[in-house]
Amino acid sequence: MTGAGGVGDGTRAVRAGLPEPVKNEPTLPGPVFAAHFHLPGEVSGPYRYGRDENPTWTHLERAVSALEAPGREDVETLVFASGMAAVSAVLFSQLRAGDAVVLPSDGYQALPLVREQLTAYGIEVRTAPTGGDAQLELLDGARLLWLETPSNPGLDVCDIRRLADAAHARGALVAVDNTLATPLGQRPLELGADFSVASATKQLTGHGDLLLGYVTCAAAEPAASVRRWRKIVGAVPGPMEAWLAHRSLATLELRAERQNANALAVAQVLRERVGGVRHPGLPDDPSHAVAARQMRRFGCVVSFELPSRERAERFLDALTLVDDATSFGGVRSTAERRGRWGGDAVPDGFIRFSAGAENTEDLVADVLRALDDTADGAAPR
Ligand SMILES: Cc1ncc(COP(=O)(O)O)c(C=O)c1O
Repeated sequence: MTGAGGVGDGTRAVRAGLPEPVKNEPTLPGPVFAAHFHLPGEVSGPYRYGRDENPTWTHLERAVSALEAPGREDVETLVFASGMAAVSAVLFSQLRAGDAVVLPSDGYQALPLVREQLTAYGIEVRTAPTGGDAQLELLDGARLLWLETPSNPGLDVCDIRRLADAAHARGALVAVDNTLATPLGQRPLELGADFSVASATKQLTGHGDLLLGYVTCAAAEPAASVRRWRKIVGAVPGPMEAWLAHRSLATLELRAERQNANALAVAQVLRERVGGVRHPGLPDDPSHAVAARQMRRFGCVVSFELPSRERAERFLDALTLVDDATSFGGVRSTAERRGRWGGDAVPDGFIRFSAGAENTEDLVADVLRALDDTADGAAPR
């Protein structure tokens, strides 16, 4: 798949953020473990103190910018200790008491906590579901529109371009949580957003072994305030995590190709057997038309409903290639009964399934067998 910037996504991913080659030096320099850097005399140069900057972050930040906005030199990425650190950095650096913000009512389950905190700081929070364009009615006087598309866990999709144009016409900034799609699936800045924010904990890094977040900013001024926020709060990634993330980016396209194909295959077979199957790549999914316009890949998550909590628990227990675990996007498939956390408005039997990089036929066979074995009245094996 060739995109802006002239090369394919796989090529871009393997080279993203690499420094100019230096004879006898590694291609991707190792993690720089430093709380402080030599700084004789005047304060100058890029690296002074480890909460402000680190060369390992710099390489990763350049890499993420190259994926989020290929061919653009004017964007700036900042990495954070987690996705929530990145989400909070945008919201709390851009909003002041008296401002209004539009948030999704069906987004990631920590957003209600953020909402409480914003409200406590005197910020008016308006909410709308991801699908259906109800955000348009809430934009008058808003300072920031926050979108999460596809939404987690419901997998609804909204039209970023349309909503960003409407928000900008009313003077509001636009942030998109790009976690589920990854920059290989969707580039919010090209669709008009001012910020692309993500949990890199998920498919971007893809091994379920680190927490990380980032914000890619389309303009210098908001980037400066997000940077200032990072310095104040200090939610910075460790050099090891940043380096592991950069190393993992090289396989992002390979992982996404396999995982997303697996998700579509699982969604297709599930649709014949169970209710409420959602995946933006299914041609008859309610999200598909908008998703197909703005997404280049549809992600590795599928959601569906089993008839009861007990059935869902039995099904999860019967899977052998799929870990019962939260999070998503890793090379090992995971699934969970989302209602167990209590934070999402989902039925008791609702399952969020994250397809890994197993062979498709093995994963599909495991899902079908677990469904059959746990059907009401199924004979025990
Ligand atoms: C859509 C979305 N945004 C943000 C986050 C928060 O990311 P992290 O867990 O890395 O803080 C998550 C985590 O699941 C998420 O799914």
